[in-house]
Amino acid sequence: MNILGVSFGRPNSNCDILCKEALFGCREAAPDAEVRFINTLKLNIGRCRGCGACSTQLEKGKDNVCIFKDDFQMLEDEVRWADALIVSAPVYTLTPCGQFKDFVDRFSCRHDVSAINWVLDKRRTGEMPGDPDAFPMERLKKRTVSFISVGGASTEDWTSLGTPILHLFAVSAMMKVLGNYNANSMGTIGNPYLDEGLINDMHVMGKNTVLGYSDDSVKFFQPEGKPEGVCPVCHQRIMTITPGQGTKVNCPVCGIWGNLSIVDGEIKVEFSEDEQARARGTFRGLREHTTEIQGFGAICGPKIMANKEMLDKLMKERIKGFDEAIGNPKA
Ligand SMILES: Cc1cc2nc3c(=O)[nH]c(=O)nc-3n(C[C@H](O)[C@H](O)[C@H](O)COP(=O)(O)O)c2cc1C
Repeated sequence: MNILGVSFGRPNSNCDILCKEALFGCREAAPDAEVRFINTLKLNIGRCRGCGACSTQLEKGKDNVCIFKDDFQMLEDEVRWADALIVSAPVYTLTPCGQFKDFVDRFSCRHDVSAINWVLDKRRTGEMPGDPDAFPMERLKKRTVSFISVGGASTEDWTSLGTPILHLFAVSAMMKVLGNYNANSMGTIGNPYLDEGLINDMHVMGKNTVLGYSDDSVKFFQPEGKPEGVCPVCHQRIMTITPGQGTKVNCPVCGIWGNLSIVDGEIKVEFSEDEQARARGTFRGLREHTTEIQGFGAICGPKIMANKEMLDKLMKERIKGFDEAIGNPKA
């Protein structure tokens, strides 16, 4: 088994400590595994420029490397190598630090399992050229992952978007998430080693991440004394409430709808089996979105062609000629 820890924190600081302790937990469950660890701080990982080159290649059923040359590809290759992952990231301004998001943006579009299967399906019916057997199947391989969100604040109010955003890393490649730990209070604990319970939690979560790879009875790690999740799929506790939707609420991580009620003074949210089956990180949920994206051209193409003259004029005068149109003195 291949096990990878990735820390987006400062070298040898809180994220590294918690990630490495979770890796020691992994080791307990997998004595023969190769365990690698990467700290990303010195890596140069730029943002996705939305060039679409990787998606275009996927549509042709071809493997590819990101056309922007920086350290992204090395980290992507390591993730592709791994069967089980532990990922830790510091909370900066309520969410995981920007470098984590930049990596996930570039990783996700290149690993959309449903887009790849879409291609393979088409190939099976003879619509696509090429050799399906040459497709890099490790893109579709099963992986387990646990996340650790690390924040300085002593309340979860200031780390509220850490674990939900970390979870998104698992979505497109359909990784099985076995833990999403909110390690807040790092500012007051001083050093994770001064909290025995926290270190023990890392070990159990790490162990579960390995055991859950081949044993479906291993459950998502629920630390003692921490509140349980509300969404049964991602175990997060954030919900979108939309006026006009009655008692329906949406899990923004999974994109599924639940029904909110108050039972004995407590808020309850229930999600039907059918909604859970279409969560963003399932094949059905991903395919729903892929099908939507595939339909954009048919919707927009005719509208753009019908309004071409007007759009060309507005683009020239107001967008490309913005400085003059807005009345900037030196334009
Ligand atoms: C720019 C910046 C923003 C931060 N914002 C938050 C925050 O919103 N909430 C929080 O709990 N901690 C915040 N922190 C504290 C870090 O999450 C905390 O120091 C953490 O331990 C950093 O991880 P590391 O020690 O592994 O580098 C912030 C730190 C920095 C540098």
